[in-house]
Amino acid sequence: MIIKANENRMDKFNPQIEVEPDGLFTPVVREWSLEKYKLVGSYCDIFTNGMKNKWDQLVYIDLFAGAGYAKIKENGKIFKNSALLAMSIPTPFTKYILCEQDEERFEALSERVKRDYSHLNCELIKGDSNVNISKVIKAIPPFRKGNTLLPFCFVDPYSLNLNFTTIQTLGKNLMDFLILQALHMDANRNFDTYLNEENTRIAEYLGIANWRELFEKDGVIYRKDFVKFLAEQYQEQMIKLNYQEEKYMHQIRSNEKNLPLYYLSFYSKDPRGVDFFKKVQKRVKAQLSMEF
Ligand SMILES: C[S@@+](CC[C@H](N)C(=O)[O-])C[C@H]1O[C@@H](n2cnc3c(N)ncnc32)[C@H](O)[C@@H]1O
Repeated sequence: MIIKANENRMDKFNPQIEVEPDGLFTPVVREWSLEKYKLVGSYCDIFTNGMKNKWDQLVYIDLFAGAGYAKIKENGKIFKNSALLAMSIPTPFTKYILCEQDEERFEALSERVKRDYSHLNCELIKGDSNVNISKVIKAIPPFRKGNTLLPFCFVDPYSLNLNFTTIQTLGKNLMDFLILQALHMDANRNFDTYLNEENTRIAEYLGIANWRELFEKDGVIYRKDFVKFLAEQYQEQMIKLNYQEEKYMHQIRSNEKNLPLYYLSFYSKDPRGVDFFKKVQKRVKAQLSMEF
């Protein structure tokens, strides 16, 4: 069976939604976040539009949801972030599960959801998503034959503070992921810290306790290979969970110096998910080339 997202429909969703200040807490982000919003917003749009007639329930999970709005440092404009973009698409998900650790961001997100999206089925979970994963799983509605469910999970941490066990637990069943991998911003910058035998961050991120042994080549460690090593090991770990073998990574670079910052990596167990992601990448690249 071939399922195609209807790319030519007239109501193509604009994943960059500027809003007025509303007096609630609004964190400041850099302008390259807009490319992230384009990618995740467009993916949600294509996903629900393409899957609405094939699945009874479509669930959006945002493990690092933020405050709902974000202010661009470079121009002071305010935009909806990942969570509220996912709630603004023409064909909404049937349920939203939004997680946020920071008290101020959580309160602002809750207020915005209550004010503007009370018509949608949304559950907010406060706290560390690496710890709260059983609460997230409990929030996913029951499903069975005749009442099927397909979830999409956006994972957007600032750093490598994401335990592989979190992804492993969620990825046991069917679940597509878009994961921000802070390989340049965090891994490269903190290389020396992570190399320290006592530091457990990379072991937890990869879910590989002896990663240092795998990284060493003939007793030597090459800093220049760190990002590639992490990306490859992550991919291997996802393949073990039955995700597609090929890598689908969208690189985000800084606007002023064009330096690599992070990747938005897509994982699906189904070739159709991958097909949607490739379409989204094409759409985002076309939009970006029109802007410059
Ligand atoms: C990069 S921001 C992403 C926000 C949002 N996804 C967006 O589109 O702008 C990361 C968010 O995750 C929150 N956060 C950091 N660590 C967390 C954790 N362990 N569990 C849940 N939220 C966390 C931060 O407070 C911040 O709001």
